[in-house]
Amino acid sequence: MAKAADPIKIGLLGCGTIGSGVFHLIGRNAAGLAEAARRPLEVARILVKDPDEPRPFQADTSLMTTSPAEVLDDPSIDIFIEVMGGVNPARELALAVLERGKSLVTANKELIAGHGREIMETAVKTGAHVRFEAAVGGGIPLIRPLEESLGGDNILKMMGIVNGTTNYILTRMSTEGSTYSEALSEAQALGYAEANPEADVEGIDAASKLAILCSIAFHAGFTAGQVYREGISRIRPEDLDNAREFGYAIKLLAIAERNEGGTSARVHPTMISREHPLASIAGNFNAVFVIGESVGELMFYGQGAGSLPTATAILGDVVNIARNIDRPPASARSYWSRPGVVRSIEDIATRYYTVLKVVDQPGVLAKIAGVFGEHNVSLESVVQKGFGSSAQIVLITHKVLERDFQAARDGLESLDVVEEIPSVIRVESD
Ligand SMILES: NC(=O)c1ccc[n+]([C@@H]2O[C@H](COP(=O)([O-])OP(=O)(O)OC[C@H]3O[C@@H](n4cnc5c(N)ncnc54)[C@H](OP(=O)(O)O)[C@@H]3O)[C@@H](O)[C@H]2O)c1
Repeated sequence: MAKAADPIKIGLLGCGTIGSGVFHLIGRNAAGLAEAARRPLEVARILVKDPDEPRPFQADTSLMTTSPAEVLDDPSIDIFIEVMGGVNPARELALAVLERGKSLVTANKELIAGHGREIMETAVKTGAHVRFEAAVGGGIPLIRPLEESLGGDNILKMMGIVNGTTNYILTRMSTEGSTYSEALSEAQALGYAEANPEADVEGIDAASKLAILCSIAFHAGFTAGQVYREGISRIRPEDLDNAREFGYAIKLLAIAERNEGGTSARVHPTMISREHPLASIAGNFNAVFVIGESVGELMFYGQGAGSLPTATAILGDVVNIARNIDRPPASARSYWSRPGVVRSIEDIATRYYTVLKVVDQPGVLAKIAGVFGEHNVSLESVVQKGFGSSAQIVLITHKVLERDFQAARDGLESLDVVEEIPSVIRVESD
């Protein structure tokens, strides 16, 4: 058994934005980390694709290798930190770490959301520690609070802004009146959005994060593919203006709810009241609003990405494992083997903001109201904007089942007086 002063040896699998931040903080905060972990931390080996690649923070190139085996088979390593990203080869490496009974810390949401079950089952089998705080909300403590601090409560609902890129784009569209394309180009120029922004703007990244939150909060294995998903690319500056006028903000929200009807999990642009705490989350910040049956409302807020915030979350996991390295993991998460069940979006009831481009002639409103009535959709507010060829009807429905709303939408599209339905955005009531 290691002596109290022996360092905890770390194998870094990846040393890019996050990995080099981890390396930097292990050096910069050595004394504090040694105190927190009760033993000093030392990076033993670093796996990269190319040691000569530039990195945000310098790392010791003499520790670098391009051979996974050289890192995996180093018997001195206690904790492996997977910060390569993607599923392959991260998955094989993560499983190999756990098969060896070694501890794994990962920031990889795709890995946990897509392959959480086999990761947790392997860890249960070998008694290895697995932690992934950085996989959701970057530097914001979320997983451990949900798993441990709130472990005694029944989580009823989670609503989160869990993607900084899309929040930045929507914030710029709202404050500057930019179009979606202008705001996206700006986010790309600032390094907030990738050259291929699909994973962010289509809600793919947020769906992975929501699946992980659901697994932890609802004690079953949920996958990203189970999360209903819509992105932000169809949001127009006019929608943000209309939202403001009606007292709402538009955010890409990841929403999960559990009640007597079952569990729902969805990511889509959402209008929320400007009074809601999530409405004021601006720029690339993240926040997750949680409602527990007993604890009530809580909100977690902070930097959801970035080298040092994310590295901090990783080191929190490392400290936690280091303190317990000779003991079995506190939570084996064997519940991950039980498949999570998600209700179809068709069975979810919500309110809808809808814009209809219509011909300007008498009787239009009556025809529209007739179609809504046929499908049990009642209207909360209706406003006509513009006249002549630019006439638009902007309306918000009462709470209605998705399947009824979509049937009404099909009916409206076939009306001769409706030229186009440029916008439909769900409105969150609470
Ligand atoms: N960036 C963020 O703000 C953020 C926030 C939260 C979570 N995360 C997660 O953290 C993880 C890492 O993200 P990142 O932004 O640090 O990525 P990154 O900058 O692209 O770094 C990836 C690192 O992994 C290495 N690597 C990739 N494939 C490899 C392979 N096949 N063999 C050997 N090495 C390989 C790369 O080597 P080279 O250096 O030689 O290219 C690089 O060092 C991802 O799962 C991401 O989702 C990132």
